[in-house]
Amino acid sequence: MNNFTFYSPTYFVFGKEAENRTGEMVKRFGGSKVLIHYGGGSVVRSGLLDRVKASLKSEGIDYTELGGVKPNPRSGLVYEGIDLCKKENVDMILAVGGGSTIDSSKAIAAGVLYDGDFWDFYCGKVIEEALPVGTILTIAAAGSEGSPDSVITREDDMMKRGATGDAIRPKFSILNPALTQTLPAFQTAAGITDIMAHLYERYLTNTKDVEVTDRLIEALLLTMKHEGPRVIKDPDDYEARANIMWAGMMAHNNSCGVGRSQDWNSHDIEHELSALYDCAHGAGLAVTMPAVFKYVMKHNIMRFAQVAVRVWGCSMDFEHPEVTALEGINAFSAFLTSLGMPSDFKGLGAKEEDIPVLVKNLCYGNGRDGKISGFVPLDTDDCTKIYQMMV
Ligand code: NZQ
Ligand code: ZN
Repeated sequence: MNNFTFYSPTYFVFGKEAENRTGEMVKRFGGSKVLIHYGGGSVVRSGLLDRVKASLKSEGIDYTELGGVKPNPRSGLVYEGIDLCKKENVDMILAVGGGSTIDSSKAIAAGVLYDGDFWDFYCGKVIEEALPVGTILTIAAAGSEGSPDSVITREDDMMKRGATGDAIRPKFSILNPALTQTLPAFQTAAGITDIMAHLYERYLTNTKDVEVTDRLIEALLLTMKHEGPRVIKDPDDYEARANIMWAGMMAHNNSCGVGRSQDWNSHDIEHELSALYDCAHGAGLAVTMPAVFKYVMKHNIMRFAQVAVRVWGCSMDFEHPEVTALEGINAFSAFLTSLGMPSDFKGLGAKEEDIPVLVKNLCYGNGRDGKISGFVPLDTDDCTKIYQMMV
């Protein structure tokens, strides 16, 4: 196991009607003037926004608001949010929504205290300072409610990139699984896929002897395998939603990723798809992961065979472990399809003729040097072949 530091300061409030404690949480973490940031309207329609405002009022907390965050959040609204916060002397950002809203909130929080262009953080500068962020989560997926990350798309060139820093880990996150019951089945399934991707991207490691995190990841993958079909069958199954929601947080706050190298090639390859076609991140991952895994499998057959046996119930073929490894990848892919996820370019609205653009943006965009590095370093030729496998 590698040396590591792990800082995970988020205060979680989990369960039914937890959003009614928003005012109490804002007060606890020192907010007096809050920016309520939200998306395209689901929180208005569900009545959540009104409940959040009532909770803030009951504690005498002042607020201003900015809606309109799009899935795959854009830089334009971040600049708007930064200006608004400065003008209104906001001292805390309250994200009410999914990963996109939380990521936009984190970008605003970092940008308000920074003299330069906030996009610097999305070119590799670590975020050292930010306004405090609190979240009220409405979809189990990105894990941004517990992560030090934010992913934003720059509108000028549709470059989708991530920024990181412990300063943007939320101070508190309110997780009420019942809030996710209004999600369309497709979004629920995309969320499940993203959670499983966060687990796989950590499982694919080159670090030896990481039994504890291997076993944690396997437990969470097994949980998703069990709860995913339940929640697709019955969207009002609170217990299944609760298990998925907490698994989504644990999958990405890095408690099961510490001390080991991680992959993230599938995420990088997918981000170009959601940047260009505006598809759901989880749906893009459902198409990307099987292709990437098949392409890199030979790098460490036993790792893929291990997850095939322990999670997907495959029998180990000791003579031909590559058969077991492939069986596990196919079982994972079939599982995602059974939830309603697409399995090829067509299902994402992606086009074969765009592959050169995707590869160029992926390997050279935003200062990259012609390759991406993860479990296996991939150059432009590798990435072209991987995208072709998805057609
Ligand atoms: O905008 P509204 O109207 O709220 O609708 C949203 C949106 O259309 C809807 N929705 C959310 N909760 C709902 C609901 N509809 C009905 N009922 C509810 N309870 O769902 C749609 C998707 O929302 P979004 O926030 O985009 O979803 P998600 O949480 O999957 O976030 C995706 C973004 O997170 C990034 C992705 O790249 C993508 O941009 N990621 C962020 C990470 C992080 N910060 O740590 C890590 C991830 O790997 C990921 O890259
Ligand atoms: Zn993801």
